[in-house]
Parts: sequence; C-alpha cells; structure tokens
Amino acid sequence: MSENKKPEKITHVKGMNDILPAEAPLWELFENTVHSVLKSYGFQKIVTPIVEDTALFKRAIGAVTDIVEKEMYSFTDAMNGDALTLRPEGTAGVVRSVIEHNLAYDGPKRVWYKGPMFRHEKMQAGRYRQFFQVGAEAIGFAGPDIDAEMIMLCRRLWDDLGLENIRLELNSIGDAPERHRHRADLIAYFEAHIDQLDLEAKNRLHANPLRILDTKNPAMQELVNNAPKLLDYLEAESIAHFDGVRRILDHNNIPYTVNPRLVRGLDYYNRTVFEWVTDQLGAQGTVCAGGRYDPLIESFGGKSTPAVGFAMGIERLIMLMKSAGEMADPGVCDVYMVHQGAAAQMQAFVLAERIRDAGLDVVLHCAAASGPGSFKNQMKKADGSGAAFAVILGDDEIANATAVVKAMREVDKDKQQASVPFDEVVDYLVDQIVGGHDHDHDHVHYHH
Ligand code: HAM
Repeated sequence: MSENKKPEKITHVKGMNDILPAEAPLWELFENTVHSVLKSYGFQKIVTPIVEDTALFKRAIGAVTDIVEKEMYSFTDAMNGDALTLRPEGTAGVVRSVIEHNLAYDGPKRVWYKGPMFRHEKMQAGRYRQFFQVGAEAIGFAGPDIDAEMIMLCRRLWDDLGLENIRLELNSIGDAPERHRHRADLIAYFEAHIDQLDLEAKNRLHANPLRILDTKNPAMQELVNNAPKLLDYLEAESIAHFDGVRRILDHNNIPYTVNPRLVRGLDYYNRTVFEWVTDQLGAQGTVCAGGRYDPLIESFGGKSTPAVGFAMGIERLIMLMKSAGEMADPGVCDVYMVHQGAAAQMQAFVLAERIRDAGLDVVLHCAAASGPGSFKNQMKKADGSGAAFAVILGDDEIANATAVVKAMREVDKDKQQASVPFDEVVDYLVDQIVGGHDHDHDHVHYHH
C-alpha cells in the first residue's frame, strides 16, 4: 500500500440495508407483538437454512416467474459444485423441512418463521434485495376455516400494532383443472388481441398467461379488465371453499374486497389467495400476502398434504409503524457505573455483576480511545445513557467500602444522593427502582 493513500471505503451491497441501533427498538416492538399474536393462535417456530438447493426454489416457485427467471441469488459452491440459492422466500424451505422430518404426518401443524430473504429486484422505496419476512404456514389443514383463521391472525396483528388503513384483497384461483380451462380461454383471448400486448406479455402468453393479468402497463389495463375471469371457471368444490372462507370472515366482521385479478407471483397457489394492501407506501403497498398451496407437498414427493400460509414484509410494516407515530422504548439501562482509579474499576466490575444478578440492566463505563474519561465525562455518559441511577466509585469510596448512588431521573434529583455500603447497594437499587412499581415481568426494568 502506498503511504499516503487512504484505504478505500467498502459500503453496503445495494438493496441490502443495515438496521441501525436507533431503529432496533421499533423492530423489537414489531417482533414481540408478532410473536405473541402467533403464539396466541398456536403457531410454533421453525428455523430453516438461508441457503437451499436451487432446484427447490425452481420447482416450488415455478420456472416462469419473475423470482426464478431473474431475481434469484444463485451460485455454485466452489468446494463441491453444488447449485445453491439464497432463499427468495420461506415457504419452499419449510415445505422441504416438513417432508424431510415427517412433521405433518401425525396431524396438522401450525409453524412460523422469520428472517432475511433475497431477491435481485429493481430497487424502489419499500423494495429491497435483502428484506425480512415473518411467515406462517399451516400444514395438513384442508378446510376454509384455517384460511379464515390465518387472515384473522393478520387482522389482529395490525390492530395490536396500531396500524389502520391496511385492507384485505381476496380471491380464489381454483384448482388445476379449472385453471387449465381458464388458461386455454385466456390464451385464445390474448391471441385475438395480440397487437395490444407488450413484449413482456407476448413472452408470457404461452408460458404463464395468468401473469399477464398482473401487468402494470397502463396501455393494457382495459384489455386485461375484459379478459376471461378465473372466478367464472370455478366449480362446486372450489366455490364452496371460497364461500366458506368468506362466511367466517363476514361473521367476524373482517372487511375485504374480492379482487378477481389477484393471481400472486408464485406458482404454488390454489384456491384462496389474499393480499393485505396499504395506500400509504406508494407502489410497494403489499405488506403481507399468501394463500393455499394444496398440491405443493405432494409435488415434492411427500404424502398429499393440503396447506396454507402467508408472509409479511417487516420493513414495510416498520415504515407504517413509523408513519403512525409509533414509538418504542429506546431500551435504556437502569444503572450506569462511574469509577475513577484502578481499585474502583475492579470493585465496579464486582458490583455491576451483583446488580445484574438482581435482574437490573447495568452499563459499566469502559475506556474509550481517548482514555478512561474524567469523572465529569463519565457523569455525562451516565446522563446520556438514560439510566435511572449512577453508581459512583472513587478512592474515598474504596477506602470506606461504600458507593455513591445518585438518582439521575427523579424530579428532585439533586437531593437524591446516598452513600451506600457495598453490601447494601443491590438492595438499595432494587428498592429504589422496583419498589413501589408493579412489575409482572421476570426481568426488572425501570421505565421513566
Ligand atoms: P410474496 O408475496 O413474494 O410471498 O412476499 C410476501 C411479502 O414479502 C410481500 O407482500 C412484501 O411485503 C414482502 N416482500 C416481498 N418482496 C420484497 C422486497 N423485495 N422488498 C421488501 N419486501 C418484500 C411469499 O414470499 C410467499 N412465501 C408467502 C406465502 C407463505 N404464501 C404461502 N405461504
């Protein structure tokens, strides 16, 4: 390296974002809320790898889909030549795992997952190349009841998060024979209007004509609006299933609109499909989406097992929470330990551990690049930490085996300073912080 050349900075991969500490409390609030809602419906957590065989996604999602055609982060494992892919979504991996471990053969299972997904998409606000999903899959359930239940779970989550203006769009895309008949008519219809199709639509005409209905091209809207509607092709069983979902939603006052053009961008769906949509995020308004995928497990060599699921985009929901003015507890500590001198530092470590044993959160002052910091500097840090109390140790305190405990947040804080023997510091703090407050949490935390 030449001597006066500064090393080049390496920045993040485009579309893959850092979630910084200032954002973390809102993410935690979201995660805690979604965990407790999932638990209240009996869902259990499942964790599958981020990397899977490329073939898994090709087969599950479908070869002629945006995701498989142009968005997958696929690579060859240089060690053994395996064709691998960073998961673009969670359902395929969960289904693989369920089959591999015979999870759903002794009765239906409700599972959920969360984590990063990867799609090489065109970037936009609300559309990233690494994004986080929380997803849920109910495997082994055949009736419309579970479809409705999963939709109601989402509704409860929006309510618990304080999010308004998320509306439900619902459709049924029927079963394969119904879709085949519709598909044949759809191709004939588009062929009769071939001059009105754009290039993308022409390319999809025979491979995946249903996806033409999803076009964003304004010039094609009228053509698409007048195209044969899949809903008109449904037969008795599919209609009964869809009616069953709607009856439960109606009975529970869950509003929705039936959108006959809702077809979803992944191939594994049948019958019920749905999307939760908001107008507050511009073009990327879908915050959660899912549906039934009865044939998928059998198509992977498993025993025929019906299933339904959904996934939500966490970044989009966090944006909604922000615009709803949602605030989260910034996660302040209870105690900041201030110390001056080598003996005081040693004692500070011992006391901090004891205070943590009692369930309180402690930040122990540690040396910065500029040095250990003056008393004044450390007190400033204590103030900025949001701690309720500073515990202060210097030479005098070591000599007397006492600590100065200073209230940082009380109204009359100047008056609240006490010299407390080392042995009593823990009890004193617990009494000050927890005493008089109702704490039903096992982890004690003092909120201002
Ligand atoms: P999906 O519609 O591809 O479905 O994605 C679900 C949600 O993930 C979207 O509604 C959106 O909120 C979020 N999302 C998708 N792509 C991005 C992106 N590039 N940037 C930010 N957020 C994004 C699935 O993934 C299915 N696995 C859902 C499912 C589960 N169906 C049945 N079970």
